[in-house]
Amino acid sequence: MREILLVDCCMRRELSRTARLARAFMAGLDRERFHVSVVRPDEERMRPMDGALLRERDRLLAEGALDSPWFDYARQFAAAEHVVFAAPFWDMSFPAFLKVYIENISVEGITFRTTETGLKGLCRGRKLILLTTRGGYYDGTDMDQASAYLKTLKEFYGFEEFICVAAEGLDTGIDPERPVAQAEAEARALVASL
Ligand SMILES: Cc1cc2nc3c(=O)[nH]c(=O)nc-3n(C[C@H](O)[C@H](O)[C@H](O)COP(=O)(O)O)c2cc1C
Repeated sequence: MREILLVDCCMRRELSRTARLARAFMAGLDRERFHVSVVRPDEERMRPMDGALLRERDRLLAEGALDSPWFDYARQFAAAEHVVFAAPFWDMSFPAFLKVYIENISVEGITFRTTETGLKGLCRGRKLILLTTRGGYYDGTDMDQASAYLKTLKEFYGFEEFICVAAEGLDTGIDPERPVAQAEAEARALVASL
């Protein structure tokens, strides 16, 4: 089975337009070939790396305990063939829970390692995918810090490709149905290409 990991940061859940893109993507997957795991960082009560958590993590890493349950999320991320982040555009970026997730899975020896020539990604993932919706129009501009940052993480973790599917301008007074439906179609087409 091929592993797909969906990291669902659609905080508005059933009201979320971004969640519609995630549903379109997931509905297109042939479940005979793909196994899907879903992580919702807010529901899992993931915590940001404060001093206490960092000390605990450093202790486990010093012991070489990479198989500790503490690192379950990092191992799951590293093993997935494709990872999908579903996250709305918030404050020129994405919801804090996605950053919290990233802090939790960035573990030396699991998702990356340090070498003499710099950091090397250890993930076997091929496509790192962002499904997003935005209130305004930012595609291709420096103001879109969500896809700019996640594209950098694609290098950090060692994925082959970063792909962003976005519906834009949803809060500008236009009928949002059209861009959302178009992005849903793009998400379905992306599944067909996997
Ligand atoms: C907390 C918050 C911050 C937002 N920040 C931005 C922003 O910086 N730029 C923008 O164009 N839209 C912004 N929006 C609007 C959302 O990007 C837009 O409504 C999006 O479709 C919400 O996705 P959802 O329906 O999946 O929740 C923000 C919305 C919220 C709730």
